[in-house]
Amino acid sequence: MKTSKLTQLILLFGILTYSCGEDLNTEKSNTNYNKTEKNIENPILDKGVGPITSVEINKEINKELATHGKTVFETNCTACHKLDKRFIGPAITGVTNRRSPEWIMNMVLNPELMVKENDAAKQLLMEYMSPMANQNLTEDEARAVLEYFIEIDN
Ligand code: HEC
Repeated sequence: MKTSKLTQLILLFGILTYSCGEDLNTEKSNTNYNKTEKNIENPILDKGVGPITSVEINKEINKELATHGKTVFETNCTACHKLDKRFIGPAITGVTNRRSPEWIMNMVLNPELMVKENDAAKQLLMEYMSPMANQNLTEDEARAVLEYFIEIDN
C-alpha cells in the first residue's frame, strides 16, 4: 500500500506526540515507575523503586529545610522510629551512609512497593516484621526529611 506524504506526516506527528505524552506521564504519574538497576555489591547505589529517580544534594546543609524536615519527622515518623535505637522500625542515625538519597525518599513515599520489589527493603520487612506505613508525605516534605537525616549524619 502506498501512503501519501500527508499520511506519513500525520503518522510522524502522532508518534511524536505519543512519545512526548509518555515522557510527561513518567514524570507526573505515580504508577509509571522508572525502575533503576539494583546494585547488590554497592547498596548505596541502589535507588529503590518509586517516584524518585534522582536527588540533588548540596554540600552545605540547608538548615531551614532540615528544620522543616525535623518537624515533619517528629509529626509523622516518631511513632515508629527513634534516632539512635531500633524501635518498630530501624534507627535513623546512619541511614544516609547505608542508603542512597533516592532510596530513602522512595522508601518514605512508596513503602508498599519498596517492600515488594526492592531487595534491601524486603530484607528490612523480614527483619522488622511490620510494614512501614505510608504517611502520604509530599515530595517536598520527603526531601526535607532527607535533609534532616543528612544533617544528623554529618
Ligand atoms: C507504622 C510504623 C512506621 C512509620 C509511621 C514510619 N515508619 Fe519508616 N519504617 C518502619 C519499618 C517497620 C521499617 C522497616 C521496613 C518494613 O518493615 O517495612 C521502616 C523503614 C524505614 C526506613 C529505612 C531504614 C533503613 O535502615 O534502611 C526509612 C528511611 C524510614 N523508615 C523512614 C521513615 C520516615 C521518614 C517516616 C515518616 C514520614 C517513617 N519512616 C514512618 C516503620 C514505620
